[in-house]
Amino acid sequence: MIETIFDKGKAGRNATSFPSDAATSGTGLGIPAELLRGDQDGLDIPDVPEVEIVRHYVELSRKNYGIDNGIYPLGSCTMKYNPKVHESIASMPGFCQVHPLQALQSAASSQGILRVLHEMASILASLTGMSAFTLQPAAGAHGEFTGLLAVKRAMMQKGLEKEKNKIIVPDTSHGTNPASAAACNFEVIEIESDEYGLVDVEALKKALAPGDVAGIMLTNPNTLGLFEERILEITGLVHEAGGLCYYDGANLNGLCGLCRPGDMGFDVVHVNLHKTFATPHGGGGPGAGPVGAKEGLEEFLPGPRISMEHGEYGIAMPEGDWPGSIKAFHGNIGVILRAYCYVKALGVEGLRKSTRCAVLNANYLKAQLKGTMRVPYEKRCYHEFVGSDEGFPNGVTTDDIAKRMLDLGVHSPTIYFPLVVHGALMIEPTETESRSRLDGLLSVMKRIRAEAENDPATVKKAPVTTPVKRLDQVRAARSPVLTVSALRDMDEKRG
Ligand SMILES: Cc1ncc(COP(=O)(O)O)c(C=O)c1O
Repeated sequence: MIETIFDKGKAGRNATSFPSDAATSGTGLGIPAELLRGDQDGLDIPDVPEVEIVRHYVELSRKNYGIDNGIYPLGSCTMKYNPKVHESIASMPGFCQVHPLQALQSAASSQGILRVLHEMASILASLTGMSAFTLQPAAGAHGEFTGLLAVKRAMMQKGLEKEKNKIIVPDTSHGTNPASAAACNFEVIEIESDEYGLVDVEALKKALAPGDVAGIMLTNPNTLGLFEERILEITGLVHEAGGLCYYDGANLNGLCGLCRPGDMGFDVVHVNLHKTFATPHGGGGPGAGPVGAKEGLEEFLPGPRISMEHGEYGIAMPEGDWPGSIKAFHGNIGVILRAYCYVKALGVEGLRKSTRCAVLNANYLKAQLKGTMRVPYEKRCYHEFVGSDEGFPNGVTTDDIAKRMLDLGVHSPTIYFPLVVHGALMIEPTETESRSRLDGLLSVMKRIRAEAENDPATVKKAPVTTPVKRLDQVRAARSPVLTVSALRDMDEKRG
């Protein structure tokens, strides 16, 4: 039975106790009368002692699992640790209490935040090889939509929007890629990967042949964690066919500071500031998906734009009715600030080192899992890799493995994505995990393998130690029970 804070309240209990008026009258110790609230009868708040309030919320937090508890190897979601000092900087009143209209109406009184935004846009441009950035989009998918609108507008400018109305995506792409292309009214062409998990260049040539392609969307390293080795040839072919190349920067974590999408031939990029520069993202956390473009395409990026002249920062909407804004105000400032702290604290050398550590950690796990789990693509991976449940004994599936991991005190990897791998387990340890944490994860995986061989029932009934046990996943997704009162109604009906 779940107890809410309201269940724990009882009339007359109190979290604070101030001396009574009578006891303090004339002593100056009481609460000044003008600060006392009058009749509180209308307030529906529980009467709970302070110690019980603290216990209640600590108990709730223990039911959760996050980066602060342990390793969180959620591939593609890049559950990066948020350094605590960055949290305090992002919460400084000078940042978090500036009203977004203040910057628009009085740039002179908002120089600090405008400077952060201006610097962040130019840092992103230099890290990715683009010439300008908008910080507006609030997530990766939102960035894709914004970037593809820029591609569409570029085609319209040439009068080619009807002729060039297709976008190519590989079969390993994140689901948001085809969805964003469709949302921008492009037709999506999916091309198959080759036997190494990379773009099949022959399939690409075939898709480009009719001349109706506006562009390609690629992430590199791709969602299998593999570097597209023929990337220059791929972007060259798309350009030759009159298309543009869109870089899904959600995997920038795998090569940030080492090479740049702009140098690989990409024209428009988005960067998932969450994931790449702290702000863990799994489970739908807050995001920011700034979009950058090369010269000639900058004019299609949404405003407001931040400028700097003679040491003064200014802010203005671009002229004309295009492209306008894609979100209210200036973007998701809290995430942008954390990302700004992250890149400023590390510097270019630090970013390179962090990328190398992320790649090393992933390759260590991949190598050590040999014999425990099949990893279908054997090449050296970047920041993540994908294993499979193929060959697990006694019908133990990815679902069972992931749930058993929860019992054994670690979070599971991303599962059943990408679709090109049977029963995929997509593992991304990130750069902050130590050797002993990685070894801890390995011993959990090895134990599950041994259980699958000798005691499969234990794996198949997992999880048994979590607050919620194994669910009917279809019902949980289709008819989620999200409030305590709904849960109680359900319990009552069940008797
Ligand atoms: C490769 C890839 N592309 C796009 C996205 C979409 O980003 P968002 O979830 O911020 O919309 C993700 C999300 O993690 C991703 O991994």
